[in-house]
Amino acid sequence: VRFFITTAIDYVNGRPHLGHAYEKVLADALARYQRSLGREVYFLTGVDEHGQKVAQSARRLGRAAAEFCDEMTGYFLEAWRTLGISYDAFVRTTSAKHKLYVRWALQKLHEKGDITFKEHEGYYSVRQEQFVTEKDMVDGKWPEIFGEVIRTSEPNYFFNLERYRGKWMEILKADEGWIVPAFRRNELLNALEHPLDDLCISRPRSRLEWGIPLPFDENYVTYVWFDALLNYASFADEAGGINRWPADLQVIGKDILIPAHGVYWPLMLLALDLPLPRRLIVHGWWQVRGQKMSKSTGTAVNPMELAQKYGADAFRYYLLREMSTGHDADFSVEGFHQRYTSDLGNDLGNLLQRTVSMTHRYLNGSVPTGGVDSTLEEQAEAAFRELCSAMEVYETHRALEGVWKFVRFCNRYLEDKAPWKMAKDAALSSLLEEVLRSVLKACVRISVLIEPFMPVTALEMRRQLGVLTVVSLLNWEELPAPVKVSDAVPLFPRLDFDFSE
Ligand code: MSP
Repeated sequence: VRFFITTAIDYVNGRPHLGHAYEKVLADALARYQRSLGREVYFLTGVDEHGQKVAQSARRLGRAAAEFCDEMTGYFLEAWRTLGISYDAFVRTTSAKHKLYVRWALQKLHEKGDITFKEHEGYYSVRQEQFVTEKDMVDGKWPEIFGEVIRTSEPNYFFNLERYRGKWMEILKADEGWIVPAFRRNELLNALEHPLDDLCISRPRSRLEWGIPLPFDENYVTYVWFDALLNYASFADEAGGINRWPADLQVIGKDILIPAHGVYWPLMLLALDLPLPRRLIVHGWWQVRGQKMSKSTGTAVNPMELAQKYGADAFRYYLLREMSTGHDADFSVEGFHQRYTSDLGNDLGNLLQRTVSMTHRYLNGSVPTGGVDSTLEEQAEAAFRELCSAMEVYETHRALEGVWKFVRFCNRYLEDKAPWKMAKDAALSSLLEEVLRSVLKACVRISVLIEPFMPVTALEMRRQLGVLTVVSLLNWEELPAPVKVSDAVPLFPRLDFDFSE
């Protein structure tokens, strides 16, 4: 079984922020979960480098767009390395492979007659060098950033969206599970209710140089969304390999559902005679104190700083545990600190540390083989089932909640059994062995359960447990029990959190 998953590609007009990071971590956890079940995964992510926004950011700094993109893309690559994003391919829309594909697609649509050339009349912002619409007005006025707005007309190329709307609506109506969460489906169906205007897909090179030239008219470059959306197909094949399109799952944020991924993209695919993605998951937004994050109010969260200070896995855990997939969530350092000390330090960290330490103290680090306590095995089984059922519907928070129920159960089990008392009575030595063996085995199970979310921690747990063979959810039934543990090192040491951010 194969599993092809994509994320939105980020604009490189600024450095990666919390929203970008969350989306990549979410997709990464889903990809790792699939791999852990033995499925062959192709995980695609990348950056969106063309267009007005990026060109303007470069110009403001007096830099050439290409060189500016190289630098900014470097920050994204560095961030994803720090956060352990296990992508199989990384899209740059400035790559030759992508450009060639976009030009092929445009040519095909042009030949089919889906693209027409006509006068485009509208409001034009001289300062921003772009067309604006009445929707951009605030209180009936053009916002200051647009400068002078004039009425002008310019010939451009247009893609006929309306031609494919009915077909797409039919497909969407018949496929209830196409969008997750389900409440997004009505929003999209509503947006498709009325006839669609033609989509302007070109910009004259005289006012925007930074884009992919149209194959049938080199005086124009293509509109950035048209360019960007095609990344999913242009990078669906590895060098020389088979093209894997359609994706099984596309991960995006709620702001780019309508119109980009819910309207333009399916209609482009239908026009190109390409299959539609099998499913779309729309995540919510991270906010700060209920407000949109923004640089100007000092509420932009830098994911790199958090990952470096408190650890990439802790940060990943916080994001995946705190946000109910599909809904908005509030970021706060206090909230992160709370999860760090309680869930990670007191629950998980403490469980492993005391278990490995007691194995050293009472059994010289070696555990004879033998049976394990069935109540722990039953609880592990429940956590495993909960995790699988939650992950099949992308609910990372619920998957982790189930695992932590088990972690806490193990801690209570140790309190109840009190191996420290058993150690004082030679007659209880085989019982003591069984208790520690059972909890050690539970720790191996926990390491496998958390691996999609906290890959480095999972490996470190197994290092301490002395389990160095390759294990995964796929061999859940035959996970090994530790026989000789290694040194105990705190997984989540106490850290000073900086609450001033
Ligand atoms: N380049 C386009 C996407 C093209 S996909 C063919 C774009 N880029 S973006 O950088 O603005 O956003 C990239 C992703 O980050 C989007 O899915 C967006 O929803 C997500 N997020 C941006 N800010 C966010 C939050 N504050 N919270 C969560 N995710 C948000 O749009």
